Amino acid sequence: MSAFHAVPAGTFSAQRPELALTVPNHTERDNIMANSDSSLEDTPEENGLEEFDPHDEEDVDESVKEDMKRLEDTFPGISDRFRLVNRIGEGTFSTVYKAEDLLYDHYRNDWDTFQNAQDDNWTNHPTKRRRGEEGNSHPFPARRRKPRFVALKKIYVTSSPLRIQNELELLHDLRGCRSVCPLITAFRYQDQVVAVLPFFPHTDFRIQYRTFMVADMRHYFRSLFTALHSVHKHNILHRDIKPTNFLYNPELREGVLVDFGLAEREGSEYTGTCLCANTSQIRRSRFLQSYYYTHCASSLNTTALGYPKNDSRPSRRANRAGTRGFRAPEVLLKCTSQTTKIDMWSAGVILLTLLGRRFPFFNSADDVDAMIEMASIFGTRRMKLAAAMHGQIFETNIPTIGEKGYSWEKLVKWASCVEELTESEKQATRLLAGLMELDPYKRLSAKEALQHEFFTDPIDHDVEWGGNPDDSGDTGEEGDKDDDEADDAADEVAMI
Ligand SMILES: Nc1ncnc2c1ncn2[C@@H]1O[C@H](COP(=O)(O)OP(=O)(O)O)[C@@H](O)[C@H]1O
Ligand SMILES: [Mg+2]
Repeated sequence: MSAFHAVPAGTFSAQRPELALTVPNHTERDNIMANSDSSLEDTPEENGLEEFDPHDEEDVDESVKEDMKRLEDTFPGISDRFRLVNRIGEGTFSTVYKAEDLLYDHYRNDWDTFQNAQDDNWTNHPTKRRRGEEGNSHPFPARRRKPRFVALKKIYVTSSPLRIQNELELLHDLRGCRSVCPLITAFRYQDQVVAVLPFFPHTDFRIQYRTFMVADMRHYFRSLFTALHSVHKHNILHRDIKPTNFLYNPELREGVLVDFGLAEREGSEYTGTCLCANTSQIRRSRFLQSYYYTHCASSLNTTALGYPKNDSRPSRRANRAGTRGFRAPEVLLKCTSQTTKIDMWSAGVILLTLLGRRFPFFNSADDVDAMIEMASIFGTRRMKLAAAMHGQIFETNIPTIGEKGYSWEKLVKWASCVEELTESEKQATRLLAGLMELDPYKRLSAKEALQHEFFTDPIDHDVEWGGNPDDSGDTGEEGDKDDDEADDAADEVAMI
């Protein structure tokens, strides 16, 4: 049993190293602590010691410095273990800080599988200077170990203890999963909880999405699907797949999945089986018995609008947690049998963003708006089918929403303002179609996605963004010009 489970649910013990919620390999800790003085006396070479100037800091805003000081002041003992360096994330549920792990050498750091990569690529101080370098104002910089960085995620006190426990427990269960950020340990002081994770340098998606080539997308998604495959194998739904929760390092061509704040075990939020979990015959017969069919059937072909006035049905409750623009259709449709496929839809939205070079791609204010955005792509016919699958009715009288919708190829071309897609973009678009499939049962799983031709039989036919696919030689597309009308018709058929 893990140290994690040894504490009663909801009561986490404490801020001192001895009382850490999870102390990795704590059986070894006392020995290491006892010997720590002598181990620090080893030669620099033996210990990877190097000259490091502690005065070299990242440029930190005054307000951030104050915020970090507040954490140090209100969380006793934290500054004995960590040197806060910067604030790196501020979300709805937490603030994340980059910090140096001062006691790194006191523990066995099995979680640190990226350490070699970090040495070369990841944690180099951009501002680090060496002794004797011009302009060095510290002639005798401290001799110390190469700093090892962690991310301290301070979870807001407004989060319920159960939710916090859930996040930490799921992370603990997922330890060792490739491309999932491991939980090192966690501390609590009164109502404050801090989770400690390895620090992963990554690029900001808002900067990289415009220049990502299809080959880059391949690395990105191989890593993301690898993470999702592991998570889903544990029957865990992440629920909040989006670029800020997948930290990608283009140099390493690897990313890590973070933020299990909304994650849940499949089936744990059970509020009754959704119609979609039944066979199509049962679905059909249930539909024919439904309120809609029996009360509104006469108006099926008329323009009756609005809600039934005396609807006695109990309101439907389903987990809709997630981020605007990334929620799967079944989440919007309040499906009560949501599966790990909801994450695959969200991954599809990321791919659509990259291919369409628009971020955010979907920009709805609420769930109804989100359905309208989807309907503009899929058309009303498919939206009605998707809604009926979950026992819901989709109706709209918005004139710009057609019946048949558009193909993904057409959409990607429009979004990225190109006349023709390269062969590799077409291949990526075929993957996109498998991810952004309205029916979760037909949507690709992470495992299937990894077996898609996009990964197994990659077409390398990239051109610089803004270029013309014909310029890269090898097009094979001559004479393949669009006849717009015929193309529209074909697109609409392809959607059905
Ligand atoms: N291990 C990490 N290494 C580097 N940056 C991180 C790490 N974990 C989180 N971050 C940064 O902090 C941000 C917020 O973290 P996240 O876990 O998503 O918290 P929230 O629940 O508040 O969204 C991330 O988008 C990322 O920029
Ligand atoms: Mg997040």
